[in-house]
Amino acid sequence: MTSETDMTHKTLALEVNGRVVETRVPAHRTLLDALRDLGYVEVKRGCEKGDCGACAVLVDGVALDSCLTLAWTVEGCSVTTVTGLGNRTEMHPLQEAFVEHGAIQCGYCTPGLIIAAHSMLSENPSPSEADIRNGLSGNLCRCTGYTKVFDAVAKAAGAMREAGETS
Ligand code: FES
Ligand code: FES
Repeated sequence: MTSETDMTHKTLALEVNGRVVETRVPAHRTLLDALRDLGYVEVKRGCEKGDCGACAVLVDGVALDSCLTLAWTVEGCSVTTVTGLGNRTEMHPLQEAFVEHGAIQCGYCTPGLIIAAHSMLSENPSPSEADIRNGLSGNLCRCTGYTKVFDAVAKAAGAMREAGETS
């Protein structure tokens, strides 16, 4: 449901990283483009067809490919990008684990991987290695060979359980 519509544009209000944002977008604008236009450039543009996961964001806690999501469909939703999970001075356990395990090289895939991992751990706080591989199967990384990424997610899962962030 949109708060205002016309034939070509829609005005929508949503929450991004805890802040209410209102914007007016063409009806065909993807969430990826809308977020980047608003300055959330940590949401990465990759394949733009749902293959790479670089553009993933949490919408009400669930990872979605923002390149496949029309912006107006998230009216009233809570959107979280990787910088909404943590920052340099206050990192999320997933961000800490990626750094500690050397799971970041060029870093282009990293925002999407962390978002996908967060979404998976919300559903499955104690994943097996196979669960982690499955949970991240929609995210491509050209640099790391994935092993360090999987190790980082396993480490973060433990830290999140200990911190009571998942149970
Ligand atoms: S840019 Fe969205 S899945 Fe690749
Ligand atoms: S670290 Fe470069 S694509 Fe993943």
